[in-house]
Amino acid sequence: MSINKEIKRITTHTIQKMKENGEKIAMLTAYDYSFAQIFDASGIDIILVGDSASNVMAGHETTLPITLDQMIYHASSVVRGIHRCLVVVDLPFGTYQGNSKEALSSAIRIMKETGAHAVKLEGGEEVLESVHRIISAGVPVMGHLGLTPQSIYKFGTYTVRAKEETEAEKLQRDARLLEEAGCFAIVLEKIPAFLAKSVSESLHIPTIGIGGGRFCDGQVLVMHDMLGITTEFKPRFLRQYLNLHDATKSAVQHYIKDVKNKDFPNDNEQY
Ligand code: KIV
Repeated sequence: MSINKEIKRITTHTIQKMKENGEKIAMLTAYDYSFAQIFDASGIDIILVGDSASNVMAGHETTLPITLDQMIYHASSVVRGIHRCLVVVDLPFGTYQGNSKEALSSAIRIMKETGAHAVKLEGGEEVLESVHRIISAGVPVMGHLGLTPQSIYKFGTYTVRAKEETEAEKLQRDARLLEEAGCFAIVLEKIPAFLAKSVSESLHIPTIGIGGGRFCDGQVLVMHDMLGITTEFKPRFLRQYLNLHDATKSAVQHYIKDVKNKDFPNDNEQY
């Protein structure tokens, strides 16, 4: 008897259907082959190869320094690890803000050189021409509004965005414009829950929250934060599911002790 091993892949259409059916969307960041394999096998809907790689993989203070080549390296490693989930890749700072032609060529490099399924970029009205151009070339785009870390030097802080009426109205307008331009989803980062609820209810496309509250159509967390690899970043929106920092430290200390005590390797662990 042959077993049907066909895997049903998640596409942007699946994501849209999930919103229509009221099924929440689970997204996590990943930056390498091994974790992507685990997340995909666990049933994650979307892996975001976030430019947060600049922080958690490379140790930079902000997301600004990461390059397109480095994002392509991370994304192609992730794509080799997955069979089922949708892979979205961040366009890094400086690769799409200049003009829409540059934005398109950055998006094309990501699609061609990584095998990923979509790109994400930050901003609303300011980047609309780029969004149009990338989507016209057949590349799905995820938007990102609210706290947009690539603009950290404009904001000055990582505090909650759009608490004031003018900024909240701009965010609502930007979300509408991104939907009209053809984005398939929008990340809402660190904004009041009532605003995220109103945006989510007014759009046909799904919203994915990170610090956007429970009414978003899906949620995303940075893997290093939810697995407890990072120890100092503890915003209110973060739920930590594991303490991998302490578990890893204790395993490494155990290994060091075994080596020093000549307990590793034993007779069965050698040829
Ligand atoms: O780069 C990233 O990890 C992100 C998420 C925080 C949404 O953009």
